[in-house]
Amino acid sequence: MESFFNGKISKKDLEAFEVIGDGKDGEIYKVAADKVVKYFFKEETYQRELEAMKIGQTSVIMPRLYEFGNNYIVMEFVQGISLARHMKRHGHIDEEMTKQILFVLEEFKRLGFTRWDTEVRHMLLDENGGFKVIDHKRAFTSDSPVPTKLLKGMKKFGLTSEFLKNVKKLNPELHDAWNKHK
Ligand SMILES: Nc1ncnc2c1ncn2[C@@H]1O[C@H](COP(=O)(O)OP(=O)(O)O)[C@@H](O)[C@H]1O
Ligand SMILES: [Mg+2]
Repeated sequence: MESFFNGKISKKDLEAFEVIGDGKDGEIYKVAADKVVKYFFKEETYQRELEAMKIGQTSVIMPRLYEFGNNYIVMEFVQGISLARHMKRHGHIDEEMTKQILFVLEEFKRLGFTRWDTEVRHMLLDENGGFKVIDHKRAFTSDSPVPTKLLKGMKKFGLTSEFLKNVKKLNPELHDAWNKHK
């Protein structure tokens, strides 16, 4: 396969590419129609995210992992809007969307992640109506049996109770378990 970078990259290597995102821990550049590179500021964050992404490759919720070096990961570009944007646009989380969200949380569990949670801005709806989740650096360093961050993100749009009502209907045991941990 064509290789984008070798070993370690510097900001200079990225000059030619468009920045499509930045966060506290890195910058994301579009390097091909279907690929991005995440350039990490710290090696430790890189290691943590790479480990989670490798383990997650058996799951459809994880972007494909193409290439990595000392401080970067080349992964699938996920085209689509975030759950945050979806909530803002539609003002609802319906049953179908709730099912998709619960599937993501089940996948975290199945993969052995200890963090069964994510942020609404890190859940991207792909063209098939399923989620792909980005930013997995806390997959093993947080311990979250209840999706606290996710619920907090929904609260901003006034949609927590709608979501929880759907969860109660679709998976009452899970709903109970979340309540017990509160
Ligand atoms: N694989 C991807 N496909 C599409 N957009 C992405 C991808 N990875 C990151 N992004 C964009 O870049 C932003 C920052 O990425 P993120 O992994 O959250 O960085 P950080 O670890 O610094 O928080 C995301 O919110 C998203 O908009
Ligand atoms: Mg982030």
